Amino acid sequence: MKLILTGFMASGKTSVAQALGKLLKLPVMEMDELVFQKTNAKDMHQIFSRGGELLLRETEIAIAKENATANNMVISTGGGVGINKIVLDYLKGQNGRVFFLHTSFQVLIERLADDKSRPLFQNPLQARSLYDFRLPLYLKLADEVIEVLNQSIEEIAQEIIDKMASLMPN
Ligand code: S3P
Repeated sequence: MKLILTGFMASGKTSVAQALGKLLKLPVMEMDELVFQKTNAKDMHQIFSRGGELLLRETEIAIAKENATANNMVISTGGGVGINKIVLDYLKGQNGRVFFLHTSFQVLIERLADDKSRPLFQNPLQARSLYDFRLPLYLKLADEVIEVLNQSIEEIAQEIIDKMASLMPN
């Protein structure tokens, strides 16, 4: 079983992945953390100042390739992964399934209001156009879409587990 969570910045991928890991007793891979390790960077700004967005995307591809055959894990992706078919195909390998956490822009903007950690979140206007550009791609590349409304993190995780069960052949 390999569950891959996609979604816009601040959509809750990390928290839901942690809950899934606990419920399923599976290790959780946090892609942004691996990107930091691989580039020896302390944060995303350092990566962008060293090699721009390209360095991030190349590193994501390398990590996905390295984990193509890994199984039995939960993967929390960075926000750009869910719109990149090449990276997702590597990550999925043989039996991975992609779950897109679909959150409204309103919710995201409230969560991101004071965020300084994300180079691709500059201001609400720029975030809105990135969200509008990405949304159809997230939807297209996901195996399942999870509507994130007022559920708790645990409820979202349970919904994913139920959907995973229906996606897997007996
Ligand atoms: C990005 C999302 C970030 C991080 C980087 C770029 C994006 O991850 O990978 O800042 O392109 O949306 P989170 O989705 O965990 O914030």
